Amino acid sequence: MISQQTIQQIQSRIDIIEIIGSFIKLKKRGTNYLGLCPFHNEKTPSFTVSPAKELYKCFGCGRSGNAISFLMESEKYSYVEALRWLAAKYNVDIEETAVSPEVKEQQQVAESLHIINGFAQKHFTKNLFDTEEGVTVALSYLKHRGFRQDIIEKFQLGYGLENRNDLSAVALANQFNPDLLVKSGLLVMRNDELTDNYRGRIIFPIHNNSGKVIGFGARIIRNNDRAPKYINTPENELYVKSKILYGTYFARQAIDKNDECLLVEGYTDVVSLHQAGVENVVASGGTSLTVDQLRIVKKYTNNLTIVYDGDSAGVKAALRGMDLALEEGLNVKLVLIPGNEDPDSYVNKVGATAFTQFVKENKKDFILFQLSVALKDAGDDTQRKSEVVNQIAETISRINKAEDFTKQQDYIRQCSQLLRIDENGLNTLVNKFIRERVGKNESRFASGREAPPDVLTDLQQDDNFNLLFRDEMHERAVVRALVEFGLKEWDENRTVADYLMEEMVDEDLFDNKQLLKVMHTYRAWYDAGMAPTSKTFLYTEDQQLSTLVVSIMEFPYELSEKWKTEFEMRVPTRDEVYREEVLATMNYLKLRKIKRLIDQNQEDLGKPHTSEEQLMLIQTHQHLKMMERELIRQAGTVILP
Ligand code: UTP
Ligand code: MN
Repeated sequence: MISQQTIQQIQSRIDIIEIIGSFIKLKKRGTNYLGLCPFHNEKTPSFTVSPAKELYKCFGCGRSGNAISFLMESEKYSYVEALRWLAAKYNVDIEETAVSPEVKEQQQVAESLHIINGFAQKHFTKNLFDTEEGVTVALSYLKHRGFRQDIIEKFQLGYGLENRNDLSAVALANQFNPDLLVKSGLLVMRNDELTDNYRGRIIFPIHNNSGKVIGFGARIIRNNDRAPKYINTPENELYVKSKILYGTYFARQAIDKNDECLLVEGYTDVVSLHQAGVENVVASGGTSLTVDQLRIVKKYTNNLTIVYDGDSAGVKAALRGMDLALEEGLNVKLVLIPGNEDPDSYVNKVGATAFTQFVKENKKDFILFQLSVALKDAGDDTQRKSEVVNQIAETISRINKAEDFTKQQDYIRQCSQLLRIDENGLNTLVNKFIRERVGKNESRFASGREAPPDVLTDLQQDDNFNLLFRDEMHERAVVRALVEFGLKEWDENRTVADYLMEEMVDEDLFDNKQLLKVMHTYRAWYDAGMAPTSKTFLYTEDQQLSTLVVSIMEFPYELSEKWKTEFEMRVPTRDEVYREEVLATMNYLKLRKIKRLIDQNQEDLGKPHTSEEQLMLIQTHQHLKMMERELIRQAGTVILP
């Protein structure tokens, strides 16, 4: 972990204009800077950077953030990578926080494996280009398959010689640790001797997001029934198969730009498509996708297109992983390559334009495809057909994110047509699956300390749905007041933060758990003697929190000179009337709480009671009404929303 001190040092040197200015051209406009947005195509600039707030916002596409999130978005860096980039730029020495001995040991192993892999990669490449065996056996094989020199170099392909002591001799001569060499999978112990593992094989290095080699896939050249086609790096500190998609390092910018990720099975598919100019492509290795792999895709795009050959076992494997993809909110499409071709051979045969065209025209919706395959399998068997209905309803029920609500309805309509069943019936079935899962989750969350996920689908069917969203604005307003004005004076003894914290003793005031988390984080910092501002949130590692705070903060607008002179009026800024704002936002939340209590109480009143209970409820009602009036009085002239 990078120490807090280092982060603060980096933070204090950040000049957002300089950083963003080194990627796009910025022009000064008033106190802000303006440029063409790097995140969407535009002709007139709407990308605005505020040096004062250290924020950017595009008024065209809506993306906003700080210097770090800019690097993360445009360069596809992780948070830590962005920090390292900035540290290098501003000559800040990175200080790592003290870590436990186990973690330290693991980091050291990982670091050593990086060095060994880097060394081996160069060695394999040298074998490919500079040895006779490499040139005549391997390079000619690659050239024969149509791979160009520049693409071989770009992907750093290499060759492992037949000689069983080629790599082992130089690796040991270079004093690499034998245990680590075995761990890396490059060497294996045979008859008490360290020998090369990838003999007579083309080497595909696998890169992490900063371009370092974390493992290898080694493809045999001569067909041999007794040897596996590929030997892959074993799981170790660097190579965790479930978290790797081959090609992400080379593909991520193209995925972002195209807003689509193509998924193929093999290394050669990725390399061939790149050579043809189709760069938004990664490979799964033919196994079903894991949640971690799907999240890698999701970082760049919501659109995943699986491009497999028609009769591959991989299609079945891919089908299996896809309920997970739906839960992650990905739109999954499927394209099957015709004949006996795979993406590699097909693009070589028809060329890039025809390939792209084919993918575009033959994209099938994944769920509908799955349904039509299952229906064909079931034939006229009614029992099996009803199983299919259940299966598809379960699949559709996985789409349970608020933004995907209409998508779910579309699927219900289309699937019921395909199945020739009643749309309402399918709808009910889907809801049943959702309810079952929500029920399960609730009991799970009731027992643990884990926070329940947002189950918005149910809310959407609720009449209060719109109301809830309007309410959230007021919760946001309180958070904004805290972050923006927290350090200002409230009265002689207290800051605004003190005041809001005291009022916030009742956490029921907030519905949105994320917003509550911002309040908690602020309090933790504040109690630790820090003076938190929006900037403290901007550079925190929890990007979700940082993004939330960015979305809450107002982007500074400037009143034009014309406005000021023409109307000769002074418009008070929010800064000047902050006390009213703080009071109004807090009071609104309290008022809302009281209104809810009144409703609840009234509902209780409607039920049968003893006269004693009845009296209590009426007294409660009167008390609540009094509090409501008091709050409204306090708010005075401030108009409540
Ligand atoms: P393929 O057999 O389609 O290989 O397996 P390929 O990469 O397309 O190679 P060519 O075009 O036949 O030369 C697809 C992927 O499945 C994994 C590899 O990741 C491969 O790229 N695989 C395959 C293995 O891990 N081990 C194997 O023995 C075979
Ligand atoms: Mn292949």
